[in-house]
Amino acid sequence: MCGIFAYLNYNVARERRYIMEVLFNGLRRLEYRGYDSSGIAIDNDLSSAAGEGERPYASALPLVFRQEGKIESLVRSVYSEVDAMGLDLEKSFMVHAGIAHTRWATHGVPSPRNSHPQSSGSWDEFLVVHNGIITNYEVLKETLIRHGFTFESDTDTEVIPKLAKFVFDQARGGDQSVTFSQVVIEVIRQLEGAYALIFKSSHYPNELIACRRGSTLILGVKGLTDEKSYAASFGDVKTLTADGQPKELFFSSDLCAIVEHTKNYLAIEDNEVVHLKDGSVSVLKFDYSKEKPASVQRALSVLEMEVEQIKKGNYDHFMQKEIHEQPHSLTTTMRGRLRDKSVVLGGLKDHLKTIRHSRRIIFVGCGTSYNAALAARPFLEELSGIPVTMELASDLLDRKGPIYREDTAVFVSQSGETADTLLALEYALSNGALCVGITNTVGSTLARKTHCGVHINAGCEIGVASTKAYTSQIVVITIMALAIGADSISTQSRRESIINSLSDLPDKVREVLRLDNEMKDLAESLMQMQSLLVFGRGYNYATALEGALKVKEVALTHSEGMLAGEMKHGPLALVDETLPIIVIATRDACFSQQQSVIQQLHARKGRLIVMCSSGDAASVCSGGSCRLIEVPLVADCLQPVINIIPLQLLAYHLTVLRGYDVDQPRNLAKSVTTQ
Ligand code: UD1
Ligand code: M6R
Repeated sequence: MCGIFAYLNYNVARERRYIMEVLFNGLRRLEYRGYDSSGIAIDNDLSSAAGEGERPYASALPLVFRQEGKIESLVRSVYSEVDAMGLDLEKSFMVHAGIAHTRWATHGVPSPRNSHPQSSGSWDEFLVVHNGIITNYEVLKETLIRHGFTFESDTDTEVIPKLAKFVFDQARGGDQSVTFSQVVIEVIRQLEGAYALIFKSSHYPNELIACRRGSTLILGVKGLTDEKSYAASFGDVKTLTADGQPKELFFSSDLCAIVEHTKNYLAIEDNEVVHLKDGSVSVLKFDYSKEKPASVQRALSVLEMEVEQIKKGNYDHFMQKEIHEQPHSLTTTMRGRLRDKSVVLGGLKDHLKTIRHSRRIIFVGCGTSYNAALAARPFLEELSGIPVTMELASDLLDRKGPIYREDTAVFVSQSGETADTLLALEYALSNGALCVGITNTVGSTLARKTHCGVHINAGCEIGVASTKAYTSQIVVITIMALAIGADSISTQSRRESIINSLSDLPDKVREVLRLDNEMKDLAESLMQMQSLLVFGRGYNYATALEGALKVKEVALTHSEGMLAGEMKHGPLALVDETLPIIVIATRDACFSQQQSVIQQLHARKGRLIVMCSSGDAASVCSGGSCRLIEVPLVADCLQPVINIIPLQLLAYHLTVLRGYDVDQPRNLAKSVTTQ
């Protein structure tokens, strides 16, 4: 989905080439979110600006570059345009404000004119990059057209810079001096919908304004004298005044684009307007009911993320890296949360009593996050004794399914920004349920809007196909079940044995990752398949859904995960000698039912691939020929963590062999921030 990046250097000399590279690199870090076009705006030189005589103001004209397709095509076109213009790339700026954007088309096809920055018109007096959707853009557009504006794009965004120019001209017409933040606040008063916005204007050179409602936006602050002492002395944004100290300031919709520059950040809140001017940062809180915004004091946070997380290292693809990283990501997920015979979830401890008294626990999520909750559901039901229901966020919204004050609604989302999940959260909040978040993204909308929750701490996940977040989500929900059930004596030994298994889990994951070459072999044998079925049940029904989803989304092959118990109620008709079928038959309470499924598939000469526990090969495949995937045995409720890994590897190798884009599959985005 769309991504925002902006860079302002203050009192430190930066060459134009350097500034452009910082912006391009910011865009590269946002690439994983999915996009179809991109753009940047930087400053021209006052002396070399064309048509200077006619300009309505004295400062340098901005230069806007927009391109459809990959970021590298934007980079190439910018350098060739800059070259053609004879622009000096070595020119140094003591202060400069640049903005950049990756667009994922919603209103209007991917094209340069629909890309951002969007402009107020000739002279590009106001430029805006935008994430989100302005729902009342049509009425604003009509009004602006009546006032003589002409529109060049099909986007909803274009009304924003034009409205800024309208507000600015009105104030100027009345001979009033108007500050940049006054213009922006007047603009956002008129906007409905969701947005994260950055404004740049030639009327306010070297200033930037950022604001948000319902869409993530982060400010990164880098002091250049001594980063550490800077962080200590400027822990508070209110002290980021115009001290003349050299600094670099960044805005981004994603922490991943900021981490390589600084770890000092501020997650901007809804209705805050952040103004960068003369090396100072001011934060204003905007309120519709009040004429004047209030100045607010916010503290900077320190990011717990390492730069290595956003780099591929020795791997060919992020998906591959993230699959192999799971022993480590699971370790960080569990760090500090397992005791000898108990568990601790700092984010939930004050709410456990309320959860234990709920009438129902409802899991809400989309895609892989939904599957993770489904995998952990049986154990939560077992330990809590509370009915646990599952909701796909979009379906809950379509049905307006009943949610009550006595319910606990648990929202699971890797990104914490999925539109359907967030809308379902609004709905549950308005119905009075206790809302719990489970997310990988500190500072995300989900983390901020839920009453409480748990960060899964899996580290930045860049591949669009979710892998390590899935296994960490299962583990966190399992720990949550242990915490909820901690007051029951009858389940104590069961709980202790699961806590022991959790401690061993990273080693077992290391063991199952050794199947990598075997999965590559299997992928080679399945290269030509048109379709794949995956049968699971019990704890591993979710594994079947998730394994099939992985193959579908990256290898672009039709595949269906099915409940094995439903086989005879329809899917059996598909079975023949050619259709590959994976049956998950690791040891648990459903083992004998799965053995019977295998026998029935053998009887119909099905092309079987059976996933079984180490040592079970002979017993699971006695009635016919089949290919085996032998995995280590762990506690039943943790087996989905192990079983999904060979299927992740299979999906990965199939994709590479077929020559498809692993990390950014066709038509998909990492964070689905629109409905
Ligand atoms: C927290 C700190 C962690 C520190 C640990 C030490 C953060 C983000 N985490 O971890 O750095 O090492 O204490 O004790 O600072 N929350 C929600 N909704 C969500 C997710 C989380 O409201 O979707 C809330 C939680 O209720 C909690 C806070 O965010 O109040 C932090 O959650 P989490 O990181 O899971 O807490 P700890 O594991 O205690
Ligand atoms: O960020 P979220 O976990 O809320 O995302 C939900 C789904 O969009 C996501 O899991 C999607 O299914 C993945 N591409 C799966 O790999």
